[in-house]
Amino acid sequence: MIKLQNVCKSYYLGEEEVKAVCNATLEIKAKEYVSILGTSGSGKSTLMYLIGLLEQPTSGKIFLDDQDVSKLSDEELSHIRNRTVGFVFQSFNLINRFTVLENVLLPTHYLKGQLDFDPRKRAEDLLEKFGILERKHFFPNKISGGQQQRVAMVRALIMNPKIILADEPTGNLDSKTGSEILDLMEGLNKDFGVTVVLVTHEKAVARRTRRQIYIKDGLIVDKY
Ligand SMILES: Nc1ncnc2c1ncn2[C@@H]1O[C@H](COP(=O)(O)OP(=O)(O)O)[C@@H](O)[C@H]1O
Ligand SMILES: [Mg+2]
Repeated sequence: MIKLQNVCKSYYLGEEEVKAVCNATLEIKAKEYVSILGTSGSGKSTLMYLIGLLEQPTSGKIFLDDQDVSKLSDEELSHIRNRTVGFVFQSFNLINRFTVLENVLLPTHYLKGQLDFDPRKRAEDLLEKFGILERKHFFPNKISGGQQQRVAMVRALIMNPKIILADEPTGNLDSKTGSEILDLMEGLNKDFGVTVVLVTHEKAVARRTRRQIYIKDGLIVDKY
């Protein structure tokens, strides 16, 4: 589904080049459940942003369903991204002045009138499935971390994406709550056929996925 071919991503701090990801070649197939494992600073998040079309590579090519997307404009890219990818982050990234329901509906606002589903109905169905429907009118800072991450997952799913990318989604949660989030991720993959890519620095988390991609100093390696 998504292929990276010799992809590099550099950041420039003044004159200095930081090679965050170097020469990455990989493929994420439809319906896979895969983790990206590496220590802090190894390039995991950068690799995830490349896979999720949030960042354009400095060099190399990225294919989404065999279409070369590495040269598209920001506008074309964000259009594709909105319909293809859902993101979940360590710090949930919810907007505190909006309610749970409003947060979940945000991604649908850009495409009002062009959707083939009723956003409110889909939002409530998903909130129900994740056990947080009764919190729909709460503000994010009035619910627990585990509940906030469930809300973030529903927001990631609202546009019915093919792939969910989660950057250390259990990083701010205690182990029991984190484990519940991982159960939900697994369920999305198993029961709904969503492709899930999970970024983590914890071996125990990576072990729960079906395949692991290891990254070290910006390079994909065979062993961890
Ligand atoms: N926006 C940025 N500007 C400059 N350097 C960055 C930026 N983002 C990441 N880096 C650098 O790239 C490397 C990889 O970062 P990152 O992908 O965030 O790693 P990880 O998620 O594994 O901790 C690090 O050295 C980091 O400091
Ligand atoms: Mg990171």
